Amino acid sequence: MILRAARGEKVDRTPVWLMRQAGRILPEYRALRNKVKSFKELVKTPELACEVTLQPVDLLEVDAAIIFSDILVIPEAMGLPYELKEKFGPYFEKTIATQSDIDKMVIASGEDLSYVTDAIKLAKSALNGKVPLIGFAGAPWTVMSYMIEGQGSKTFSKARKFLYTEPELSHQLLEKITQSTINYLEAQIEAGADMLQIFDSWAGILSPDHYREFGIAYLDKICASLGDDTPIIVFAKGANFALKELSMLSCDVIGIDWNMEIADVKAQVTNKTLQGNLDPALLYSDTDTVAAATTAMLNAFGPNGHIANLGHGVYPDTPLDSVKAFINTVKEHQFG
Ligand code: CP3
Repeated sequence: MILRAARGEKVDRTPVWLMRQAGRILPEYRALRNKVKSFKELVKTPELACEVTLQPVDLLEVDAAIIFSDILVIPEAMGLPYELKEKFGPYFEKTIATQSDIDKMVIASGEDLSYVTDAIKLAKSALNGKVPLIGFAGAPWTVMSYMIEGQGSKTFSKARKFLYTEPELSHQLLEKITQSTINYLEAQIEAGADMLQIFDSWAGILSPDHYREFGIAYLDKICASLGDDTPIIVFAKGANFALKELSMLSCDVIGIDWNMEIADVKAQVTNKTLQGNLDPALLYSDTDTVAAATTAMLNAFGPNGHIANLGHGVYPDTPLDSVKAFINTVKEHQFG
């Protein structure tokens, strides 16, 4: 059903899943996480990654699974290992600053990330067709911003500075990330991913000109090389200024955040399914408020060409009752 919605075909009801549903919110995830040494151990052990992938399908009854991994596996496969520090977030010991740093980066192959493709194969067989499995990767700009900064940032000013001061090196690095990402996403399709999402979490911090040159140009290369059989979702957070250009990509679905009127987005993007866009903070409200806001959102999008989701990843401390109210409201909704 979600695959039909992605392709813009008629559906009996709107499908629903949540960005970052695997990990973060479920007590069952935290229990498993506490049994292992690190986040990376979970990601790199296909049996465990598979288990975390299935949890939201079993416990929340969402309409799709997303493979448990992270966007930072690409820099690691290129030669820049990451760590996930407790109460700090992603951390890279080495970062990219010079031509020689970029020269040292290799183009990752699908085999370099076989722990992810193995997890996809396990999850696909365990799901046994119950719901589709979404594979994913970070967009080149978002992945590059971590490789330059070495950690999360409020402004990513170091990464943005690099675009202004080293445009040529920026393009070299983006090109290597793009080739690695294409290899990786092709391997995910090969392993059984039914749909792919590209997360461009830091799209919205660039100027329109810079996003066109350093962001969309590389999304375009990825979308164009993946073929038409596997639907692609492009989620460019905050890039509402670029909706018209995003709608020209060879992808099937555009993910949107909660900062725009749905009617305005629909007026600009007429050729693609839309995904989103409830404010994840709204899930801190009581369940009646969640249900009312979800109903209003569904009516604003209309019955077809929509995949219900939040406008960004679900926050780790979100009450599960609200998450369930969101999902159940979507599933029970009748369009008048
Ligand atoms: O959607 C899913 O549930 C699949 C799994 C998934 C993770 N990360 C697992 C994870 C996905 C799709 C991601 C994507 C990701 N990772 C993005 C893009 C999406 C977004 O939210 O904007 C980004 C920017 C990252 C980088 C990253 N990884 C950060 C900033 C952090 C720390 C804070 C956090 O919880 O997001 C991570 C770690 C991470 N990735 C965790 C999980 C479940 C938390 C690890 C833990 O402590 O168990």
